[in-house]
Amino acid sequence: MAPHSFFLCTFLTFSISFHGIAALEYRVINIAAATPGGIRFNNKIGYPFTKKIMGTINNYIWFVVFQQNDPADQKQLDSVNTYIVEFEGAEGIAWGNNNINVSTIYIKDLVGDLKWQFTSLMLHEMTHVFQWNGEGTTPSGLIEGIADYTVLRANHTQWGFANPGDGDRWDQGYDVTARFLEYCDGIIPFFVAKLNKLMRVTYDVKYFEDLTGKPVDQLWHEYKAKYGH
Ligand SMILES: *[C@@H]1O[C@H](CO)[C@@H](O)[C@H](O)[C@H]1NC(C)=O
Ligand SMILES: *[C@@H]1O[C@H](CO)[C@@H](O)[C@H](O)[C@H]1NC(C)=O
Ligand SMILES: [Zn+2]
Repeated sequence: MAPHSFFLCTFLTFSISFHGIAALEYRVINIAAATPGGIRFNNKIGYPFTKKIMGTINNYIWFVVFQQNDPADQKQLDSVNTYIVEFEGAEGIAWGNNNINVSTIYIKDLVGDLKWQFTSLMLHEMTHVFQWNGEGTTPSGLIEGIADYTVLRANHTQWGFANPGDGDRWDQGYDVTARFLEYCDGIIPFFVAKLNKLMRVTYDVKYFEDLTGKPVDQLWHEYKAKYGH
């Protein structure tokens, strides 16, 4: 499916979600409403928009990125909570089983289309909430790469996102690993969905070879060679 499918899929996935899936609540809690970034969140992004995109993104992750049409394959939750919090050091962070903190300092300093950029961040953080991580054994570079893969897949990348072939290591993380995963998807359809499924209870680097027939280091060399590096 083409990258622009993120918005096109909204209607489809909402109609799927109306039967079969028990109500999953999306909560937004602005606990920094008096700070400049908290005020800006309320004025420019707001609760209704945030709740709406949390639902859209949840369905996009389940049905498009991870191909989890069977609820038994999905990480099932009663709620996802997005906290708007004053903190430094990151734009956002997923924590616990079902929580996301978004930094008011990040929101305060955003330039350009706030809702669009906030959606990019939420695509990344919501992926953390719903991805399998080998019960904590998956390396963080791959975890972050899959989160950025969702952003890439949804055609929601920001300026400066890695180009195909960029980077030094397959498990460098974020946009570099996302581009490598995009390449793996080109070799084996739905590679990321299949890899995620394998990582439900444990992680093994051999999953790359199980899925493609090639060890991850060979895949990385061939990927770099393809783009002339
Ligand atoms: C991706 O988004 C950009 C604008 O952000 C747009 O110009 C481009 O056509 C989109 N690509 C696809 C494949 O939809
Ligand atoms: C997120 O914010 C909540 C509310 O302030 C706080 O209790 C929690 O520790 C924060 N989590 C992280 C990982 O910073
Ligand atoms: Zn992350």
